[in-house]
Amino acid sequence: MKEVINSSWTDSITSVDIVIAMMVTTSVIVLWVSLLLLRVIRFYVKETINPTPFASADEKAQRQLEEEALQALQKKKPSIWTKLMQLKPISEEADLVMDHKFDGISELNNPTPAWFMALFYGTIIFGIGYLLNYHVFHYGKSQEEEYVTELQKAADDKLSFLASPENAASAVNENNIVLSKDAAVLKSGQALFATRCPPCHGDHAQGLVGPNLTDEYWLHGGKIKDVFKTIKYGVTEKGMISWEKSMSAQQISDIANYVLSLQGTNPAGPKAPQGNKE
Ligand code: HEC
Repeated sequence: MKEVINSSWTDSITSVDIVIAMMVTTSVIVLWVSLLLLRVIRFYVKETINPTPFASADEKAQRQLEEEALQALQKKKPSIWTKLMQLKPISEEADLVMDHKFDGISELNNPTPAWFMALFYGTIIFGIGYLLNYHVFHYGKSQEEEYVTELQKAADDKLSFLASPENAASAVNENNIVLSKDAAVLKSGQALFATRCPPCHGDHAQGLVGPNLTDEYWLHGGKIKDVFKTIKYGVTEKGMISWEKSMSAQQISDIANYVLSLQGTNPAGPKAPQGNKE
């Protein structure tokens, strides 16, 4: 009746998803190859315009020395902090001073720190991912979709809850109760009646303080819905107890059905009719 909601994520992969994944992979590969090609072309162009001369032994030794010196310089790498903040040494300050000046005060044109740029581009990438996820491919559910899904799930849960007979009975109320002549129901009703009602209505419901429940006269209605309601909420100002707190809906339903099964049993010593004939 109800579909299993917790299906595994693999079930939801469609051929469209596979095609999309393949397209993404292909474009990444194409991008990578084009970058490689670009490097090769650049190198080629550079060599064509300004070819590296074949070096003599002396020149080679010279170049070796230069390279070593350069490497030694590069080894003195700036710290991660300096990199993140894109801090420039004071020695470079002269290059950073901007053109305008007022009252002897000038401004440095420091580059935007790397951490900030990383955050900035990060939000753009996140935004694109978000857009694709929620609005293009609909992998993720929007708020409205989630709301609808939750409502649907609640409705399904309710249905399956009520599908079990036990729970359906406990959900019984004065609006949905239907008359039952089921032997088990009447037996349960009889047992409940015997322990609670005789002090006021008599052993056979012939009436004592409370009215005779076996005749056709009713103060508060003789239909199953009325009787259920009277027992559930009582008529406290007239001495009829409200049984809502001390009995389950199921029990009240059983007892109401039992009371109506007593119609026309004509027990001995009946109390005089009260209320209207129905
Ligand atoms: C403390 C005494 C008392 C007990 C216990 C009691 N009743 Fe009543 N009941 C009354 C009285 C008094 C009335 C009449 C109320 C009125 O005058 O409106 C009444 C009315 C009713 C009516 C409405 C009758 C009509 O004419 O509409 C029903 C049905 C009923 N009782 C069922 C029960 C059931 C079932 C039980 C046991 C679970 C029970 N009562 C226990 C005192 C009691």
